[in-house]
Amino acid sequence: METTDAFAGLECIDCGETFDAEEGTHRCDGCGGILDPTYDYDAIDLEREDFESRPFDSMWRYQELLPFTRESAVTMDEGATPLVDCAKLADQLGVGRVVFKDEGRNPTGTFKDRGQTVAVTAASQHGASDVALASAGNAGQAAAAYAGRADIDSHVFLPARAGFTNKAMVNVHGGDMTVVGGRIGDAGAAYDDAMAEHDDWYSVKTFVTPYRHEGKKTMLYEIIEQLEWEVPDAIVYPTGGGVGIVGMYKAAREFEQLGLIDEIPAFYAAQATGCQPIVEAFEAGKDRHDPVEYPDTICGGIEIPDPGASPWILEALRESDGGAVATDDEEILEAAIAVAKGEGLEMAPTCAAAASGAWELGDRGEFDEDATVVILNTGTGNKDADVLRSHLMGKGI
Ligand SMILES: Cc1ncc(COP(=O)(O)O)c(C=O)c1O
Ligand SMILES: [Zn+2]
Repeated sequence: METTDAFAGLECIDCGETFDAEEGTHRCDGCGGILDPTYDYDAIDLEREDFESRPFDSMWRYQELLPFTRESAVTMDEGATPLVDCAKLADQLGVGRVVFKDEGRNPTGTFKDRGQTVAVTAASQHGASDVALASAGNAGQAAAAYAGRADIDSHVFLPARAGFTNKAMVNVHGGDMTVVGGRIGDAGAAYDDAMAEHDDWYSVKTFVTPYRHEGKKTMLYEIIEQLEWEVPDAIVYPTGGGVGIVGMYKAAREFEQLGLIDEIPAFYAAQATGCQPIVEAFEAGKDRHDPVEYPDTICGGIEIPDPGASPWILEALRESDGGAVATDDEEILEAAIAVAKGEGLEMAPTCAAAASGAWELGDRGEFDEDATVVILNTGTGNKDADVLRSHLMGKGI
């Protein structure tokens, strides 16, 4: 494998067992826990100026903090997305500054590209012929795109309610798609059955591969650098499986450990009231979620009733002095439309949960009046234009 110098291997977040990255490919052999890439931080000698001197052209510009070299990566120069100031929103929230990290500018239109570039690179380096995953939609589209680029076959299991663009583009990228009646859990069950029959399929599913949160952590590096090393007061993130939020929490700790920042931002998980296991666990002071029996929200990407990494997500919220917030579908759609109308930025409904959640947090007085609040727009609105438009129709427009 063409790994980077400081990359040490994988560590189980539950039992602490360590694995060489050649042999450990997915979950912990001992306890089934999630594996997390580790580094020898003492061997990394990076100053702020080192990053500043590099073109802002791809998330792989942080390659010393990633497992694989940029040269060996299956990449389309994903990442390096803009941070867009939203002055009207700052006024409405009653804070000093609101910025959008606009992940809609990625190759397949969402931040899922950051996870898949690393996961598919790992698959390629492990010699996989096929990758497979169950997904709400966006990760499946991204996996099909990166697998195609790496000449790997992809098998994507999606629930019937996944968006049209996701389904269409899995086909266009040459992926093998299975659409399953029901919700994400039903797609997951079909994926499990297929995996049991194909022991040569390499999983790139959420937290089954150790590399998706690793790719998504680069969002935080970029945010800090784009804010000229000022740590924002709050980061509001639309949370489903929590891959992005734990990745960014890890990244903040890494920058802290490397002496690049002195404090970490407060992380807030935004969910929809129709599926809010993290918010419920946070408010109840629990260390783990209770699965939601009947999830029901139009925000497909965060309709994740049983997020297996909840202890890690809750740690990120508590240790960073952040929080959790849920708003309902109506408020979320209204937020997407208000942002598109007032700021020009196109947010998918799933992502608008973060904007809507930020409004709610502002109303609760959670932010200081001079605070800098970052809202993660994890994906472009034009993938779900039909959902947004029909909300207007529901209002007679
Ligand atoms: C646009 C979008 N935002 C957020 C999420 C939730 O991601 P995470 O697993 O990082 O919580 C998804 C997942 O499908 C998504 O598609
Ligand atoms: Zn373990």
